[in-house]
Amino acid sequence: MTGRLATPAGSPILEMARRAAEHRAQGRHIVDLTLGEPDFAPPGHVIAAAQEAAGRVLGYSPANGLPELRRAVRHVVERDRGLEYADAQVAVGCGAKQVIFNAFFATLRPGDEVIVPAPYWASYPAMIRLCGGLPVVADCPAASGFRLTPQALRAAITERTRWVVLNAPGNPSGATYSHDELAALAEVLRRHPAVTVLSDEIYAHIRYDDREYVSLAQAAPDLRERILLVDGVSKAYAMTGWRIGWGLGPSDLVRAITAVQTQNCTQTAAVSQLAAVAALEGPRAILAERRAIYHRRRDAALAILRQSPHLDTVAPDGAFYLFPRLTAGDDLAVAEVLLVAGCATVPGRAFGAPGHLRLSFATDITTLEAGCRTVVGVLDKAAT
Ligand SMILES: Cc1ncc(COP(=O)(O)O)c(C=O)c1O
Repeated sequence: MTGRLATPAGSPILEMARRAAEHRAQGRHIVDLTLGEPDFAPPGHVIAAAQEAAGRVLGYSPANGLPELRRAVRHVVERDRGLEYADAQVAVGCGAKQVIFNAFFATLRPGDEVIVPAPYWASYPAMIRLCGGLPVVADCPAASGFRLTPQALRAAITERTRWVVLNAPGNPSGATYSHDELAALAEVLRRHPAVTVLSDEIYAHIRYDDREYVSLAQAAPDLRERILLVDGVSKAYAMTGWRIGWGLGPSDLVRAITAVQTQNCTQTAAVSQLAAVAALEGPRAILAERRAIYHRRRDAALAILRQSPHLDTVAPDGAFYLFPRLTAGDDLAVAEVLLVAGCATVPGRAFGAPGHLRLSFATDITTLEAGCRTVVGVLDKAAT
């Protein structure tokens, strides 16, 4: 392969899911804990809104999103975070993923650095490389709660740093940041005015503590012009396939993101956009109901995994992943053995954290418990 794809950019998570499907196709029973995809359907009123929208004639629409979706997004961010954005500060894309890609594509020059705290969502470094940038990994071990510390941020910043990625709740760690932790990071960022922050808040609705979610833009309002806040309906409303995400930030960055969007797919599907309006403007009880279900699953899985002396499992603050550390053994080899034993997980190295496994609990509790028991049983057997 030549050109940009000289750098491998496949997804290790999808690769593991593919292998699990392969085993299944051979007639084996596999518990698949690989994918970060809610196992719920979107709310009924969202599907109804999409059906209604599909019956109307919908042609091309604005690259930055339908005005009614941009309005709904602004309203939600103002209501939930107290952050006001102008219409020109919102860009809608095909999922949060495309907005992030567009932002990197629009801004990175060859050799520009992007600080990516590890463990990270595997797509960040892949996208950064595709866009000509250089991911600079800042290790955030379990001992630091998987959070980026001011010290680690300071150590990673150079004069070539263009972006810092902050993802909370994090995939795969589930870690969130308190107001004070964000304020301490902001102190460092103030000394580096050329650095923009990607604040990926796609899991903000899926949290297990009673604390209010704090966004960097709330903790450091003076940095608002250097923050791209990214969110979407994929995780909160179980709408992964509908491909709706958005970014809120400085209008010149939003203009650049929109320019890339215009030339790569014009806009995301209008039917999906109108469904997302229905999700954002519809009843919110469903968010709390689903959060409670994830919470029960998290605790059930933790109760099993914590019986194992071979795993050290931090309780995630949010998102729907467990990220246990193996007290011994290689994560890739262990994931292989687990797959053969009937449970598909993702090795931590896919997220820049070898020695861990990622288990998604976006699956029903019976399946999840069976998978966790397999993990514990296999590790016990390997140790004897
Ligand atoms: C941290 C993080 N950001 C963004 C995304 C992508 O979300 P979307 O479906 O809106 O593109 C994911 C999906 O797995 C994710 O884990």
